[in-house]
Amino acid sequence: MAARYAVIGHPVAHSRSPEIHLLFARQTGQAIEYVRLLAPLNAFAATVADFRAQGGKGANVTVPFKEEAFRIASQCSPRAQAARAANFLRFERQTIYCDNTDGIGLVRDIRDNLGVPLEGKRVLVIGAGGAARGVIGPLSDEKPAALALANRTEARARTLAGLFPGLKVLPLDRLKGERFDIVINATSASLAGETLPLEGLFSEGMLAYDMMYGKEPTAFMSRAAAEGARAADGLGMLIEQAAESFFLWLGARPRTLPVLEALRKEL
Ligand code: ATR
Repeated sequence: MAARYAVIGHPVAHSRSPEIHLLFARQTGQAIEYVRLLAPLNAFAATVADFRAQGGKGANVTVPFKEEAFRIASQCSPRAQAARAANFLRFERQTIYCDNTDGIGLVRDIRDNLGVPLEGKRVLVIGAGGAARGVIGPLSDEKPAALALANRTEARARTLAGLFPGLKVLPLDRLKGERFDIVINATSASLAGETLPLEGLFSEGMLAYDMMYGKEPTAFMSRAAAEGARAADGLGMLIEQAAESFFLWLGARPRTLPVLEALRKEL
């Protein structure tokens, strides 16, 4: 019988995770089912419990439940513990194990797929919400020369910096003159089609990475490219975090590049 997995979120209809996991399953010869579950905003834990009662083996968790996913788990990986947020749940006999595969997904996309090592680089993350929280630890593990965080609401950046010593907080509206090799947009501004105040930040030789993705380049990517930077979207990160989840559930590591190509064509 096929093992059952799900992505749980609100909203969730847009999630590409079922398609990605089914491509991984086909490639590695695993029998799985993977569904989207829309959890009511006040009933994430109940949705997880129902799915588990119906034989679910694990779930990916997306907005806005990643912090709650961390709280309902009884055991967590060190990277989920550091982020206090989880996008991965595995149901064990008596317990729920959680992990956060977002950060390693981002690192693998930048380092391995785009061929840009993070070690020794000056890296800026913009945003201090759930998306940023999951990636700071794994970015820092790559030993960048500097890792800075800027957010519209500076207090939120300071709260996040409290979890990750060594993270430098910069004001978002005063980045001009700062020099970075890699700038990562972890805000939801692109979703709303809003632009960030990033005058003078981009230049040739830099990588501008938007964790969002879509058919067209985001406003952040277009601006970076116009100013000479290399621009990338977050589709590769989505697929790499899924590959890590798949591996943690099933012990098989899928090849991600064919899946990236297939999804890119369908955007
Ligand atoms: P997510 O889980 O996607 O990170 P979130 O927790 O709501 O979602 O966080 C959204 C992030 O995008 C925050 O860093 C937010 O900045 P604030 O903390 O100041 O709200 C940032 N963000 C959203 N729209 C933005 C905009 N137009 N300009 C700058 N930052 C924006």
